[in-house]
Amino acid sequence: MTVSPQQARASFLLARSCRFHCSPQYVCSASKTFPATRRQFATAKNTAPKKPYYVTSPIFYVNAAPHAGHLYTLVLTDILKRWQKLRGDDRAILLTGTDEHGMKIQKAASKAKVDVKAFCDQHASQFEELAKVANISYDRFMRTTDPDHKIAVEYFWRELNRNGYIYESKHEGWYSISDETFYPESKVHLVLEPSSGRKMHASIETGKEVEWTSEINYHFKLSDFKDRLLDHYQKNPDFIVPSTRMNEMISEVENGLTDLSVSRPATRLTWGIRVPDDPSQTIYVWLDALINYLTMAGYPFASDAASNSVWPPECQVIGKDIIRFHCIYWPAFLMALNLPLPKQFLSHAHWTLNRAKMSKSEGNVVNPFFAINRFGVDVMRYYMAHDGGIVDDADYENLFIVDRYKKDLQGGFGNLVSRVVRGKKWSVPDSVKFAAGSSRDSNPEAMLQMALIDRTAEDCARLMDQLNPRMAIHAVRELIYAVSLKASHLDLN
Ligand code: MSP
Repeated sequence: MTVSPQQARASFLLARSCRFHCSPQYVCSASKTFPATRRQFATAKNTAPKKPYYVTSPIFYVNAAPHAGHLYTLVLTDILKRWQKLRGDDRAILLTGTDEHGMKIQKAASKAKVDVKAFCDQHASQFEELAKVANISYDRFMRTTDPDHKIAVEYFWRELNRNGYIYESKHEGWYSISDETFYPESKVHLVLEPSSGRKMHASIETGKEVEWTSEINYHFKLSDFKDRLLDHYQKNPDFIVPSTRMNEMISEVENGLTDLSVSRPATRLTWGIRVPDDPSQTIYVWLDALINYLTMAGYPFASDAASNSVWPPECQVIGKDIIRFHCIYWPAFLMALNLPLPKQFLSHAHWTLNRAKMSKSEGNVVNPFFAINRFGVDVMRYYMAHDGGIVDDADYENLFIVDRYKKDLQGGFGNLVSRVVRGKKWSVPDSVKFAAGSSRDSNPEAMLQMALIDRTAEDCARLMDQLNPRMAIHAVRELIYAVSLKASHLDLN
């Protein structure tokens, strides 16, 4: 059999692409005929984890329909899970779902004049539908109204109380229903509402309206955890990725922590889980919501079940607006119960529309169903992962989607695959045999290509381990461009 350099190149690409799609445990037939590929893959960092890889997305508020920002967070989470599956962890688990309790939902349902549970059902199904149409490989769609979650939250509360971290006291402060959080006086200013010119108090950080509240409620001794949190951050410098966000959290904790209000009077907040043994209080929605990650893992754990559980998550994906809740409050709650902390958080930036944050409360959102319908699910997933921001916000632009489709997917990946599989002058099996044989080593052109492909595979693995799917995709795109360019010069077909 005589094989040209072009055929050899194509076979290397094919075989190398198998490296991205096969794992040592799940070896595909092409890599069986290409031992070098298997051998090299095995040298990568791919030891099977002791427990299944567990990755979570945030759970979405059901006060309005999903938008493209939600799709982004889901796509990132899904990429992380699929990467682990490709590396051999066939039991990898992805959790997503909806955050259904709290003032925000209570108010939205009352405004819509719909029974609050019916309101939640309607919106939760839209988020689940989004996960389905976006090909998110979720293992459970958690709803905070699910019965097992209620059990987990009540148990968690009792444990916090039993360990002495809960006390009752008067709370006065500014509460934002939209952000579901209290702000100290220093984080609030007086502004004019843009739409009406009305004077209102708003959070400096989010711009959301706040209202003065004075009430008796339960507090969590967050201030006790300052040193333990700082110690954890110091010992785990990659706890929060990217490092800019890690630094923000460190300085926030260094500046001091005040105790956290973790319940609201049931006279104000009816829609939620009641404090065990005190039905006059409803558990704070963020405490309730965060525990969903434990519910999935089978919490409350029977004494010997904890070690068989998927807990803790290897990675929790969150938007930059919810880092404080996840990277300060959440670890402190877990520390209070001596539960293992999540290994890492990937915090991403936001999608903007005309440079303003895409937000359902502002109404400037992209409907992800329309976008998927118009451009196709893979195009949208590619666009979001390729152009979406991790550190900096990204502006959503239909023209860029078309551009990515034409240049990268059609002109790059699609064109290359078409050259490889539809080429008339050579056969795929012959080329794969050539690539697996010794004659390839005397082909300098083919060896160069192979080195480039190998380097990209290593770069990708490193970038994915660093929780940077965006740059991993950029690396593959560069490779495809480089190889396609060569192929077109040599008139592969
Ligand atoms: N319910 C809370 C999360 C609780 S997790 C225990 C919440 N819900 S949300 O629906 O407001 O936001 C869900 C996720 O979507 C967050 O990670 C948030 O950052 C993300 N996004 C919301 N708007 C976004 C953009 N415009 N762009 C990218 N992500 C965005 O917060």
